[in-house]
Amino acid sequence: MLLVTGGAGFIGANFILDWLARSDEPVLNLDKLTYAGNLENLAALEGDARYLFARGDVCDRALVDRLLAEHQPRAIVHFAAESHVDRSIHGPAEFLKSNVEGTFTLLEAARAYCAGLPEERRAAFRFHHVSTDEVYGALKPEDAPFTEAAPYAPNSPYSASKAASDHLARAWFKTYGLPVTVSHCSNNYGPFHFPEKLIPLLIVHALAGKPLPIYGDGAQIRDWLYVGDHCAAIRRILEAGIPGETYNVGGWNEMDNLSVTREVCAWLDRLSPRADGVSYARQITHVADRPGHDRRYAIDARKIARDLGWRPEETFASGLEKTTRWYLEHAQWVKNAQSGAYRAWVEKQYGKAL
Ligand code: NAD
Ligand code: DAU
Repeated sequence: MLLVTGGAGFIGANFILDWLARSDEPVLNLDKLTYAGNLENLAALEGDARYLFARGDVCDRALVDRLLAEHQPRAIVHFAAESHVDRSIHGPAEFLKSNVEGTFTLLEAARAYCAGLPEERRAAFRFHHVSTDEVYGALKPEDAPFTEAAPYAPNSPYSASKAASDHLARAWFKTYGLPVTVSHCSNNYGPFHFPEKLIPLLIVHALAGKPLPIYGDGAQIRDWLYVGDHCAAIRRILEAGIPGETYNVGGWNEMDNLSVTREVCAWLDRLSPRADGVSYARQITHVADRPGHDRRYAIDARKIARDLGWRPEETFASGLEKTTRWYLEHAQWVKNAQSGAYRAWVEKQYGKAL
């Protein structure tokens, strides 16, 4: 079986659902259920004997040891993290705790667990660490996309904490021989994306008639990847990735935030037009920029294509259509996600205007 951490979050939930749609190998999901963890994401697996859930913190060594001993996974897929850059600016402590101490705890527990495995199972064991392109810092317009050899230059408390966790993962491979693989992915979008992140925030705020907040001039560039493509990349790394290797995963799809916003508005205009017939783009509002805001990320995903045969399948148009339709069809999920805590966050980040 697989031990997946953070499986109640956006990418982890998509990963578990996609995994169990393709394989009967069971999954144990260890998740603390922070504000970002939502068991509703996994409601389709209710009563499915192949899926197990343990509520808990990856920093809890005794719990992780017990789960490993009881369930004997053949791999750990480590998603659990605090993931939102803006929250890391308001309160970095949780990011250091979950992302750095949490990864350290898991690596140590995996090392002890591996040491007790018979040779054959030890050789087959994998620890996959899910990282981000943000650890490489920001690109200038003329720079080539990030390869796996790009130097680390994290600029936010979030990316610094992810960078620290990557260094631990690397060291546990080099020093202890733990069979670690690492992936650095660009911006994901798709179903179950918590509406604090750009694309789902735009969709739910557009439909609610609220301003669509664009930080600064909106010319910042991200490389957007449909979440199902990211999940496929991780499955491929688990299958054929080489311990000690890192793999960059991206969509070959650089877009500036204003263009992304206009695309989101165009899909909503087609699928659920405003009553007055005016485009949702009318709601675009420029707000104060994010401190330390990285201007551009872009991933060179040639290594994973060459070595493992992975390429993204969705275009931005096909992925965004799926995503927009999903949000339109899941109004109750959106309503439940927008709890009191969500409203308090929006007020803290954007003020009363939203
Ligand atoms: P998310 O915030 O939606 O979900 C994170 C999940 O981890 C939640 O279910 C939360 O409850 C859980 N969690 C947090 N701290 C925990 C702890 N201490 N113990 C156990 N569970 C804990 O995040 P996401 O967007 O799904 O991202 C998943 C991973 O992928 C993260 O490691 C993130 O850094 C990485 N990543 C995300 C993106 C993206 O675009 N979203 C891109 C590249 C990499
Ligand atoms: O690059 C991978 C990273 O992508 C992941 O590691 C992070 O976990 C994930 O949250 C994401 O980080 P970003 O900061 O790029 O994503 P976010 O959706 O917060 O913002 C995307 C861009 O949109 C960024 O340039 C900031 C901008 N933005 C965001 C919000 C929430 C706005 O202009 N307005 C907003 O209200």
